[in-house]
Amino acid sequence: MRQVPQYLIVGNGRVARHVCHYFSLLNIPVLTWNRSESFDLLHEKIQQVSHILLLISDGAIDSFIAAHLNHTSAICIHFSGSLFTEKAYGAHPLMTFSNAFYSLEQYQSIPFVIDENAPALFSELPNPQVRLSSHLKARYHALCVLAGNFSCLLWQKLFSDFKDVLHLSPGIAHPFLKQQMQNLIDQPEKALTGPLVRGDHMTLKKNIDALDGDPFQAIYNSFITCYHKMKETK
Ligand SMILES: NC(=O)c1ccc[n+]([C@@H]2O[C@H](COP(=O)([O-])OP(=O)(O)OC[C@H]3O[C@@H](n4cnc5c(N)ncnc54)[C@H](OP(=O)(O)O)[C@@H]3O)[C@@H](O)[C@H]2O)c1
Repeated sequence: MRQVPQYLIVGNGRVARHVCHYFSLLNIPVLTWNRSESFDLLHEKIQQVSHILLLISDGAIDSFIAAHLNHTSAICIHFSGSLFTEKAYGAHPLMTFSNAFYSLEQYQSIPFVIDENAPALFSELPNPQVRLSSHLKARYHALCVLAGNFSCLLWQKLFSDFKDVLHLSPGIAHPFLKQQMQNLIDQPEKALTGPLVRGDHMTLKKNIDALDGDPFQAIYNSFITCYHKMKETK
């Protein structure tokens, strides 16, 4: 019979809090530890588990394992999308975690992108899983940051400038944002509209001039350059 994993969650940041919440919704008991507690307590808890989830800052993972987990037989897992280490298996939840908790259904839909060399992980969870080889991990994470984090910066810019510069309610852009997202899901290749795809150079020039003195002018210009390079290579 397969053993049910006993988890210790290390850390109490955003992801650790979400994972604790998800496990509680599934009635999966977990032990937790964060660095406001004693190392004696940590070592006590390590003895009681089969799996340790290191949900701490990427830069702290290797040194934490070296300092505290060298002698454990528990399987060590981290959630970093970019780190590859011999010391722990990577299982990246392909999701962004804000301060607010999500629903059970949302948690269950989050795919885990797991290091190719890892043993079976999270078999008791319904989450989709894929495997990724270590040499593709850096590229994978760069794509996640480009699409997820950088588009977030662009939308934050629109919301703040609507409010502060144009004196418009940022909420009036929500249907636009939702439709853009839906079009990307439904028909990704057809989702791009606007002056770039139309080759409307006059409008592009007006947009660039309108961003004079704004740090986002450089981003606008670099997107045009990038778009033309993409076209050339297609
Ligand atoms: N946020 C996301 O959307 C997201 C998505 C996918 C994957 N991840 C990954 O999930 C992991 C956790 O990210 P997060 O967003 O939860 O980060 P976070 O909110 O910044 O929390 C980081 C946690 O790490 C702890 N920590 C830092 N250095 C430590 C050390 N030397 N020893 C012990 N604990 C230490 C912090 O403790 P203190 O509170 O005491 O400072 C805090 O509890 C990272 O590997 C990240 O790449 C994040």
